[in-house]
Amino acid sequence: MQAIEIATPGGPEALVPTTRPVPVPGPGHILIAIDHAGVNRPDALQRAGAYDPPPGASDLPGLEAAGTVAAIGPGVSRWAVGDAVCALLPGGGYAEYAVTPADHALPIPKGLSMAQAAALCETFFTVWTNVFDRAGLKAGERFLVHGGTSGIGTTAIQLARARGARVFATAGSEEKVATCRDLGAEALNYREADFVPWMQGEGGADVILDMVGGDYLPRNLKALAEDGRLVQIAFLQGPKVAVNFAPLMVRRLTITGSTLRPQSDLAKARIAARLRAEVWPLLDAGTIAPVMDQTFPLAEAAAAHARMEAGDHIGKITLKVR
Ligand SMILES: NC(=O)c1ccc[n+]([C@@H]2O[C@H](COP(=O)([O-])OP(=O)(O)OC[C@H]3O[C@@H](n4cnc5c(N)ncnc54)[C@H](OP(=O)(O)O)[C@@H]3O)[C@@H](O)[C@H]2O)c1
Repeated sequence: MQAIEIATPGGPEALVPTTRPVPVPGPGHILIAIDHAGVNRPDALQRAGAYDPPPGASDLPGLEAAGTVAAIGPGVSRWAVGDAVCALLPGGGYAEYAVTPADHALPIPKGLSMAQAAALCETFFTVWTNVFDRAGLKAGERFLVHGGTSGIGTTAIQLARARGARVFATAGSEEKVATCRDLGAEALNYREADFVPWMQGEGGADVILDMVGGDYLPRNLKALAEDGRLVQIAFLQGPKVAVNFAPLMVRRLTITGSTLRPQSDLAKARIAARLRAEVWPLLDAGTIAPVMDQTFPLAEAAAAHARMEAGDHIGKITLKVR
């Protein structure tokens, strides 16, 4: 099969076309003939040598895809050959075929294209488990997400709104702020104003989803309401910073975080089941939809990464595989 591999860790040019054997699905796994694959920031970290695949996962990048079930492994009854699915992958999405546990796949929501479906799983699994499972966001609470137009941000705004939260977002340009507002968030251009007094003026955030880190860590603590929860999913500005933790006690704050990829297959299957019950009906009804940026041919994965790292994209970038 045609695939894209990481020749040696580095910039986007490290992504080069190759041929590999078609993987064989083991017990409980399915083989997906990939139509489109999603591109995510963790793929760029892996390409740069900063985020190794977990043991047993493909060394090829690619954490999500949509396509057709091409083969099933022993013990799989949930799917049949020919079913259209979108799936979270342990890796290997930048290829014509990939294997994944059968219960990490979900049906293609009604009316969504393969490109849209390929853009769902990595961000929806991540947002669900962090914002709702870990941080426990509830209807009526105030929710702040940084990077509001990222794949993660556009998903988080829509899900939090759909579940009855009041949503706030930061973004780095007027165009991005407008997109956040279109999605239902109150939004601030962080290059022109400080989000801390903005949030404090609204009573503070009950939950903050942050991928920035660095000096955002102490500022996020200030922007939280009493009993607020900060959930950290990345550190684009670095994980080390001096923080005064006294407010943690006085204002009863919680700091948590997680990464999706190293979690057990069972943990991911549980998230998939919750998404199918709670979120797929919203996608089927068209209440929410992935925000799409550009699609590149698989062979141009390097250009897709260059676009993501330039930072001008809004929403999800995908690769057309067939
Ligand atoms: N923990 C997990 O399980 C998990 C899973 C998936 C993704 N993630 C992380 O979540 C983040 C978003 O992922 P994504 O795929 O949605 O990425 P993305 O679309 O590339 O978004 C990154 C966003 O971060 C904002 N940003 C703020 N400060 C930045 C900085 N110093 N450098 C670069 N961007 C900065 C950018 O928007 P502005 O122009 O508005 O600043 C951009 O919208 C990534 O950091 C990724 O590693 C974590």
